[in-house]
Amino acid sequence: MAIQWFPGHMNVTKKAIIERMKEIDVVIEMLDARLPGSSANPMLAELTGTRKKLKVLNKQDVADPERTATWLAWYNAQEGTQAIALDAGDTAPAQRLIKACRELAPNRHGMDKPLRVLICGIPNVGKSTLMNTLVGKKAAKTGDEAGITKIEQRINLANDFYLFDTPGMLWPKITIEKGGYHLAASGAVGRNAYDEEEVALELLTSIKGPYPQLLAARYKLDNVDQIPTLHDEELLTEIGRKRGAVMTGGRVNLQKAAEIVLNDFRSAILGRITLETPEAFEQWAAVAAEAEAERQRKKAARNKKGSGRRADDDAAAEQAD
Ligand code: G4P
Repeated sequence: MAIQWFPGHMNVTKKAIIERMKEIDVVIEMLDARLPGSSANPMLAELTGTRKKLKVLNKQDVADPERTATWLAWYNAQEGTQAIALDAGDTAPAQRLIKACRELAPNRHGMDKPLRVLICGIPNVGKSTLMNTLVGKKAAKTGDEAGITKIEQRINLANDFYLFDTPGMLWPKITIEKGGYHLAASGAVGRNAYDEEEVALELLTSIKGPYPQLLAARYKLDNVDQIPTLHDEELLTEIGRKRGAVMTGGRVNLQKAAEIVLNDFRSAILGRITLETPEAFEQWAAVAAEAEAERQRKKAARNKKGSGRRADDDAAAEQAD
C-alpha cells in the first residue's frame, strides 16, 4: 500500500464518538467535494448505525459543479441521508445546516427535546473554518460542560440545536488504494506518509481523462485531444519541462514537477476539479472489499494451519499480504 499514516489520536477520537453517539440525532459528515468518496470515513457507517446523516460537500468552490450535482443526487437517494454543498464563502452556513438537520429529525425540537448533532470529517476538509464561521456569527461556545470531553466542544446554533464537534479523524488503514492517493493529493495526509511523485502521477491519471483542457491551459500543452492517452510519466515530464523544472543536463526534475502539480491542484490554480464519480468510487470499493476478503481468508487459513507457529511469524506474513 502506497499511503501509510499513523494518526495518534484516532482511537481517542473513535471512543469519544462512540460515547457521544448514544445521544445524537443527526451526524454531519464533512466531505471534500473534490473527492467525496475518498474523504468519507468507512468507519463512520459502523459508528453511526441507523442515525440520520447529513453529508456536507465542502469546498464546492474548487470542485467541478456538474460532478458535485451528481454526488449530491447520489447521497440524497440514500435512506436517512441528505446532502448539501458548501464553501467557506457561504455567508449563512448555519441556516442551511439547521434546515437540513431539522428535516432529517423533525421530531426533535423545543428546549426539552433539542436536536443533537455531531459533526466530523477528515483533517483539512475545512471543519475549523466552518466552525469558526458558526461560532463567530451564530453561536455560543460551551466547551466546559459536564460530560463534554476535552477533545470535543459543543456550540448552540439555536436554543434547541446543539452541535458537537470532533477533531479531524482519519482511519487506520486504507483499503481503497485510489482513495489513498486522492486523500494525499488533497492534503489530508501528512507529507511523510507518501511519495509526492507517485501521488502526482496518480493525480494526473484521475485528471487527464475528464479535464485535459485544464491541463493544456495551465501548462501550455499542445494537442489537448492527446492528453488523455499520454502515459502519466510522459505527462509529468512535459509539465516539468514547461514549468522550468529542469536539471543541469536538461533532464526534468520529476520531484519538482510533482510538487508543482500537487500545489496547483490543492490551490485550485488548475481549475475546478472533482477526482471521482460515485460509479467509479463504488467500483474501487468493490475491488478493495474483495481484496480485503481474500486477505481475511488467507489469514484464517494460516491461523488454522499454523498452531505451532510463533506469533511474530504470523504478523510478518500478514504484513507481507
Ligand atoms: P480542518 O479544520 O478540517 O483541518 O480544515 P481547515 O478549516 O483548517 O481548512 C483547511 C484548508 O482548507 C485551509 O486552507 C482553509 O482555508 C481551506 N478551506 C476551508 N474551507 C474551504 C472552502 O470552502 N473552499 C476552499 N477553497 N478552501 C477552504 P490552508 O491553505 O490550509 O490555510 P489558510 O491559509 O487558507 O487558512
